Amino acid sequence: MKIEAISNTRTRQEELGQFLTATPVADFMAAMFGSLPESVRLLDAGAGAGALTAAFVSRCCDKRHSIRAIDATLYEIDDKILPSLVATMRECEQLCSAAAIRFTFNIHSTDFVQEMSAGLAGDFFANRPPAFDVAIANPPYRKISTDSAERHALRSVGIETSNLYAGFIALIYRLLVPGGQIVGITPRSFCNGPYFRPFREDFLRHLELRRLHVFDSRRAAFRNDCVLQENIIFHAARGQNQPSEIVISSSSGESNAEITESVLPFAEIVRPSDPEKFIHIPSQASHTTARESLDGLKTSLTSLGLTISTGRVVDFRLKDALRKEPGRGTVPLLYPCHFNGGTVHWPKLEARKPNAILDNDETRPWLVPSGVYLLTKRFTSKEERRRLVACLFDPDQVKAERIGFENHLNYFHANGHGLEHTLAVGLLAFLNSTALDQYFRRFSGHTQVNATDLRSLSYPDGETLRAMGREMKALDLSQSEIDRLVHKHLNDSSSLKPSPAPARWTANAAKNSKRCSPDAKQASSSSPPSKTAAPCRPSSHKLPGNPKSGSPKTPTTWSTSMEIVS
Ligand SMILES: C[S@@+](CC[C@H](N)C(=O)[O-])C[C@H]1O[C@@H](n2cnc3c(N)ncnc32)[C@H](O)[C@@H]1O
Repeated sequence: MKIEAISNTRTRQEELGQFLTATPVADFMAAMFGSLPESVRLLDAGAGAGALTAAFVSRCCDKRHSIRAIDATLYEIDDKILPSLVATMRECEQLCSAAAIRFTFNIHSTDFVQEMSAGLAGDFFANRPPAFDVAIANPPYRKISTDSAERHALRSVGIETSNLYAGFIALIYRLLVPGGQIVGITPRSFCNGPYFRPFREDFLRHLELRRLHVFDSRRAAFRNDCVLQENIIFHAARGQNQPSEIVISSSSGESNAEITESVLPFAEIVRPSDPEKFIHIPSQASHTTARESLDGLKTSLTSLGLTISTGRVVDFRLKDALRKEPGRGTVPLLYPCHFNGGTVHWPKLEARKPNAILDNDETRPWLVPSGVYLLTKRFTSKEERRRLVACLFDPDQVKAERIGFENHLNYFHANGHGLEHTLAVGLLAFLNSTALDQYFRRFSGHTQVNATDLRSLSYPDGETLRAMGREMKALDLSQSEIDRLVHKHLNDSSSLKPSPAPARWTANAAKNSKRCSPDAKQASSSSPPSKTAAPCRPSSHKLPGNPKSGSPKTPTTWSTSMEIVS
């Protein structure tokens, strides 16, 4: 089905959070649903030009399904795109007619958040919220400020989130019948980080996850709109009992790209002991190996007597106190540009950033006493090989009474003071290891590393970290030297008692790798994955291209209703 394009300006698109789904991705999403009732009530909130409903309808018209009726409810606030949406619905009618499916649709050109929040909150003047068997969604992405109308509306029904997409999804699953299914494409950002914790809890309380799909490339799925977010697709059903296993898959996002699938215990996706409820997506074999290496670690940062904080110097707020060069009355100011392998290169006069900050009454609250600190970058570029990048600040190399750590870095400290040197060096090796970097990528798709992310990790115990520190003779070891050292100590460590892994996650499970057929994929997404499925098995199915409609059939009895409610 051809979906008409529209030409909103970039600014207007951003205001509306309007990033349209490419047809192959929409088809892929539609194929994720499990078995459906004969008569389906479908919700497409933030429908755009109708690509998702069209894909769903095309899927239902496939001869293999026994669907007799589809009643689609679509919400779209942008008047400009409505004609395209209506045209797509007309095409859906034709397709359904040829497949002897009764198709009706209602387009609401109203604000989904306001209307559904009012309905769910039981406002006297609001309509009773409808119920749906199925929802397919690519909700608008836009930050919503604390005092925005959207935020107030969502709060009235107990939804706390700072991004519109999460608000949409939380409303949508509240409208599903028990067992009702949702397939959604959203930024991956809700899977970790402190701001999305209330949403994650709410999401996991209302939905049983069946499948998570991640795109390896940030660009591919939304190429035309230059979306640089890492996106995921999830398939879930309304209910409160998480399955024992779920399907994790990944692909590059290009059409016809191979899809790699794994079947994993749910406890690997959301760790039962994790208070933050991070959603891990181990989409590559290396992520699994990383878990196997680190899973037995049980030591928290707190029990090591350590804390992590974000650099306190926000440079634009202290502009007048910043100095390009160190001089009288100044102390060192450290930025990520001062990272130099495992150590700090300071001052860096050729860099654009200041190297020093005045030490006076105004700046002192933002400075820390000199000592050994471990620094990590908060932001890495997409091209950087690693997400976790750590270096050691050694007061013997940069002499000063106090130091300023700028806001683009995080620093590990012991109650506001420096760390014990050997422990810090061991921690440096651990943080710079490939295993930890890969582990981090299981739950974060960001190039940003939050202090909460680092707080949520488990660490080797103090003894093991000190042993690593003693053995690390130089701070600028190569990656393979660091990995060897960390691997050796983690394997030796008495604190690392790997939890018994399910049989097929043992090392030789990879030998069972096999290609799975599209049918196997369909079965695995719609029903609990089979116990015998092999992990990380590259599947032979691909993101589909444009669906070809089957040969038209003689229409049997069907009717249509079209209503645009504004
Ligand atoms: C990310 S786009 C996705 C469009 C379509 N579902 C697709 O996948 O191609 C989200 C759509 O939601 C619409 N939208 C934004 N805010 C809305 C609101 N409060 N109520 C209804 N629709 C809204 C936008 O105009 C945009 O067309």
